[in-house]
Amino acid sequence: MKRTPLIAGNWKMFKTCSEAVETAKRLAELAQKITHIDIMIAPPFTSIALVSESLRNINSRVDVGAQNLFYKKEGAYTGEISANMLKSAGVRYVIIGHSERRQYFGETDEDICRKVRASVESNIFPIMCIGETETEKKEEKTLYVLDKQIENGLKGFRSDELATLVIAYEPVWAIGTGNTATPEQAEEVHKYIRSKIGKMFDFSLAENMRILYGGSVKPDNISELMSHQNVDGALVGGASLDADNFIKIVNFNK
Ligand code: PGA
Repeated sequence: MKRTPLIAGNWKMFKTCSEAVETAKRLAELAQKITHIDIMIAPPFTSIALVSESLRNINSRVDVGAQNLFYKKEGAYTGEISANMLKSAGVRYVIIGHSERRQYFGETDEDICRKVRASVESNIFPIMCIGETETEKKEEKTLYVLDKQIENGLKGFRSDELATLVIAYEPVWAIGTGNTATPEQAEEVHKYIRSKIGKMFDFSLAENMRILYGGSVKPDNISELMSHQNVDGALVGGASLDADNFIKIVNFNK
């Protein structure tokens, strides 16, 4: 089975509106001839609608994502953004449960589960992030941690509801540190995640699901990561902020 690779850029809390639009346009221009890879950028909330609009005008195939959402449909939740609001701003993917959200904003697996549900109900593709911390790795708890994050994050779902789910394996110790997992480590964990999804749901869902690697992905390590069978793309932070750099990751097989 062939899964279309997804290279996703998480811009985190970087870029004003004009900077975001400028970078998105440059990326669209550079990505014009790419057909075999899905590309996504996730700007901060303030520039999502503007970026979507500018990409729509030039008929780009770069998709727009969000970095978070709140699971309620609407209501008195000051400062929050719903799935429908994201949809109306042109969002196709949403990153859910990034380790920075878990770590700095107290997100739990239960919140993440509700967010996955809200995104599926609004036809937005969820990218659910999982990954162990450095301490957990040292204590050899990686697989235990991933099991819990997957079991709790996807609790109560039927497999047909998860057809658009993307999982991003992001070891916390690799994010923004320059310490990428070796391609072999990533492959081993991705293989484990796929078999876990197969056992929890069904094997064809697992076989079709894209599992991205994230954590210090750069132009010079992407090809090797992507050469492994169970690595279906990357979630890229720092190296996605500059379009000319990010396109080198998108063009990993060149
Ligand atoms: P990084 O971030 O590429 O800067 O390590 C990855 C992420 O947080 O998704």
